[in-house]
Amino acid sequence: MWGGRFAEGPSALMREINASIGFDKRLWRQDIAASKAHAAMLAAQGIVAQADVDAILDGLETIAGEYEANGVPEDPALEDIHMHVEARLAELIGPAAGRLHTARSRNDQVTTDFRLWVRDAIDEVGAGLAALQRALVARAAEHVEAIMPGFTHLQSAQPVTLGHHFMAYYEMLRRDRSRFADARARMNESPLGSAALAGTGFPVDREATALALGFDRPTANSLDAVSDRDFALDYLMGATQCALHLSRLAEEFVLWASQPFGFLKLSDSFSTGSSIMPQKRNPDAAELVRGHSGRIAGLMVSLAMTMKGLPLAYSKDMQDDKEPVFQAHDLLIVSLAAMAGMVETSGFDTDRMRAAAAAGHATATDLADWLVREAGVPFREAHHITGRCVRAAEERGCALWDLPLDALRAVDPRIDARVFDVLSLDASVRSRLSFGGTAPAAVAERIEAAKRALGMA
Ligand code: ARG
Repeated sequence: MWGGRFAEGPSALMREINASIGFDKRLWRQDIAASKAHAAMLAAQGIVAQADVDAILDGLETIAGEYEANGVPEDPALEDIHMHVEARLAELIGPAAGRLHTARSRNDQVTTDFRLWVRDAIDEVGAGLAALQRALVARAAEHVEAIMPGFTHLQSAQPVTLGHHFMAYYEMLRRDRSRFADARARMNESPLGSAALAGTGFPVDREATALALGFDRPTANSLDAVSDRDFALDYLMGATQCALHLSRLAEEFVLWASQPFGFLKLSDSFSTGSSIMPQKRNPDAAELVRGHSGRIAGLMVSLAMTMKGLPLAYSKDMQDDKEPVFQAHDLLIVSLAAMAGMVETSGFDTDRMRAAAAAGHATATDLADWLVREAGVPFREAHHITGRCVRAAEERGCALWDLPLDALRAVDPRIDARVFDVLSLDASVRSRLSFGGTAPAAVAERIEAAKRALGMA
C-alpha cells in the first residue's frame, strides 16, 4: 500500500508489531458502511466516475456478504481491517478499487469507523442498563414494605425498606444512562473528509457523508478529528462509573448471600457449587461483576495513558485505542446482564432482614426526634438522652422499644407513653415521608415515576 517508496518489504517483526487485524476486524461493518458513504459521495461530487463507484459499491456489498458468512480472513501482511477490505475489493473489481481511497486517509477512516462502533456500543449499553433498571424496579415494587437495616459504616443505622434500597440503584443507573447519552451526543460528528490531517483539496461533501452515516454534522477541525480519542475515553469513563455502580450492588449480593447475613438466596441459575464442599452455593457471578469493574477502570486508564502527551495529529500509538474499548465493552455487557439475572431470580428473606433491623436499636434517631418534636428538647440534648436510653436497653439486653416506660422516664421524665408510637420499625419507616425518603408511600411514588420513565406502566 505504500511500497512505492521502499526497496525492501517490512521484517516479520515489523509486521507483527504493526498488525491490528486481530482485533480491528471487529470494525468491519463500520468500515464497509463508511466506505460506501464515501464512495457514493465521490460519485455525486464528480470526483470518481459513477461506473467505477457502482463497481466499488457492488464489491463492498459482496465483501460484506463474505464476512457475514465466514468472518474476516486474517492476513497479517495486510495490517488492518481497512487494508483487508481494500485488498479484497481489488481482487473482486480490479483497478477501480484503487479509486475508493481518493480524498481519504486511513486516519479519518479509522476514527470514523471507531466512532460508529462506539455509538452502537453506547446503544447496546443503554439497552442493558434499561433492562437492569426494569429488574430493579420490579423487585422494588414487590418489596416496598419490606423492612431491612439501613447501614452507615456497615453498622445498623436506621430502618429502610428493600424497595427503597433497590431504587437507590435505579437512580445510579439513571445517571449512568444520561452519561452515556451525553457521550453519544458529543461524539456524533463525522471525521470523514479530514483525510490524513489537513483536509483535502478534492471537492468533497462532508455534510453528505455525515448524513449518510447518521452523524449530526462533520467535525470542524481536521487535525482534531483525526487525532482525538476523547469519544472513546468518554465511553470508557462512562463504563467505569457504571461498572463501579454494578460492583457495589454485586458486593451487597455477595455480603447478603453470606450465612451471617442470610438476606438473600441466589437462584440455582446464578450460583456455583464447590468441588470439595458439598454444601456450597457460591456467588461467583456477583464476585466477577465486582472483579470486572476493576478491569474496566484499568482499561480506561490504559487508553488515557496511551493518549497522554501525544502531539497532533495521528501517531500509531493510537492504534492501541481499540482493544481497551472492546474489552471494557464486553465486560460491561456481560456484567449488566448477569446483574439483571441475579436481581430477577434471587429470593429475599425479608423476615431475616426485619429481624436484623430490629437488632441494632435502629429507631434511636426516632426517639431523639420525638424528644425534639414533643418535648421541645434541643437535638443535641435529645441525642444525649437517647444515647443513655440505648445504654439502658443494652444493659437489660432488650430492644429500645421493649424498655418499660419507667426505665425511659428514669433517663428523662419528659418521655411519656406516646413515644412507643414512634419507636417501632414500621412507625420509623412510615414517618420518613420526605421527598426521596424511605416511607412506603414515598417509595411507591418513585417507583411509579420510574415505571413511567421505563415504559413499564
Ligand atoms: N490501523 C490503524 C489504526 O488503527 C489505522 C490508521 C493507520 N494510519 C496510519 N497513518 N498508519 O490506528
